[in-house]
Amino acid sequence: MPKISELTAPPSLELFSELVELLQDAVKSGAAIGWTEPPSTKEARNYWTEVLEAVGRGERLLFVATDNLVGAGAIQLAVSTRAATRHRAEVQKLMVHSQFRRRGIGRALLAALEAAAVDRGVSLLLVDLPSGSAAEQMCRRSGFRLVGQVPGFTRSASGSFDPVSIYYRQLAPAAG
Ligand SMILES: CC(C)(COP(=O)(O)OP(=O)(O)OC[C@H]1O[C@@H](n2cnc3c(N)ncnc32)[C@H](O)[C@@H]1OP(=O)(O)O)[C@@H](O)C(=O)NCCC(=O)NCCS
Repeated sequence: MPKISELTAPPSLELFSELVELLQDAVKSGAAIGWTEPPSTKEARNYWTEVLEAVGRGERLLFVATDNLVGAGAIQLAVSTRAATRHRAEVQKLMVHSQFRRRGIGRALLAALEAAAVDRGVSLLLVDLPSGSAAEQMCRRSGFRLVGQVPGFTRSASGSFDPVSIYYRQLAPAAG
């Protein structure tokens, strides 16, 4: 099983390049994570630079799975520092490299993220997932509950407008 770690500081150049390739692979293999076409290397580098800046500002947690320094997967949690909303956070950009799927890495990334969320007092997770996707199946099996479906939410590479399903998971009973 690849190693799961939280990135709290800028990664090595090698790992940064692995993240770039992971993002390009995920989009190429059909992940609905914000791109209709795989991003160019420059776009992907800019994207990860922005993510790492958000990690540095404390607005985002980033976990990566690595297998002998090869980037196998990643997951993010968008967190809030405001009093009214810091108990909840949004799971984003779950991706496992196409060469590493169905080995439990997605589930392990989600479990690591949930543990970190609990540690920082987050009691409610939200996520929107392409309806009918492997990611939806995974989150369902991991205890997320369906809120509902939004039609026409995402534009796909073929030009269709596809639905997403919105899920939540309570990590601890809501206080009060
Ligand atoms: C979703 C994704 C992260 C799963 O990663 P993974 O490492 O292959 O998943 P795991 O091996 O941990 O599988 C966990 C569970 O997810 C479900 N699952 C995973 N892949 C699946 C598939 N292709 N079809 C149906 N269910 C699937 C299964 O319930 C599986 O449990 P099981 O193996 O006991 O049956 C991966 O397929 C991926 O990167 N997809 C593209 C990215 C994406 O769409 N992200 C969503 C936007 S946030």
